[in-house]
Amino acid sequence: MTRRNVGLSALMVGWALLLSGGMASAEDLPPLPAVPPEYADKKMPAGGWTDQKAIEEGGKIYRGEFKTEVNCSSCHGKDGAPVKKGARDLRDPKLVCRFSDAFWFWRVSEGVPKTKMKANKGLLSEEQIWQVMAYENQFSHGGKPADRSCYKP
Ligand code: HEC
Repeated sequence: MTRRNVGLSALMVGWALLLSGGMASAEDLPPLPAVPPEYADKKMPAGGWTDQKAIEEGGKIYRGEFKTEVNCSSCHGKDGAPVKKGARDLRDPKLVCRFSDAFWFWRVSEGVPKTKMKANKGLLSEEQIWQVMAYENQFSHGGKPADRSCYKP
């Protein structure tokens, strides 16, 4: 292949991804990456998903009211509808119900390599990460506190 052809094919692959991305449903989402061993046992504290106080604190963290360096809403949107390109739509239960406690905690702690999703572990305590997760979980549950009975790995 010539250099030009390589460039052209890359462009076409890009387009195909863009087009299919628009139509992709959760059924054909690729499997989630495995949770590293040091996070594998992370579990939401009992009652944490629906704890009103925790959710309230989580909301402040999410909106950047706790710390301006931690402003989830700047990418994920105030209501979970992404405002930055590449950010996941946290209102989609098909996406969010695939997250185990451990997976979710791990991603918020460590971020997602090569994306805008940065690590929060130096900025938030473990308790605060659980709080922001409980808040986020509402987006895929009609804006209401919800347990994780929707969880489908
Ligand atoms: C600067 C933009 C930005 C900020 C701020 C941000 N995110 Fe993200 N987030 C992203 C992007 C982009 C992705 C998609 C990463 C990928 O491609 O897997 C993402 C993915 C996620 C995911 C899904 C992880 C996965 O692997 O699918 C969760 C959960 C999440 N973010 C939670 C949060 C929380 C909680 C905060 C605040 C503490 C936050 N994000 C702050 C950009 C951001």
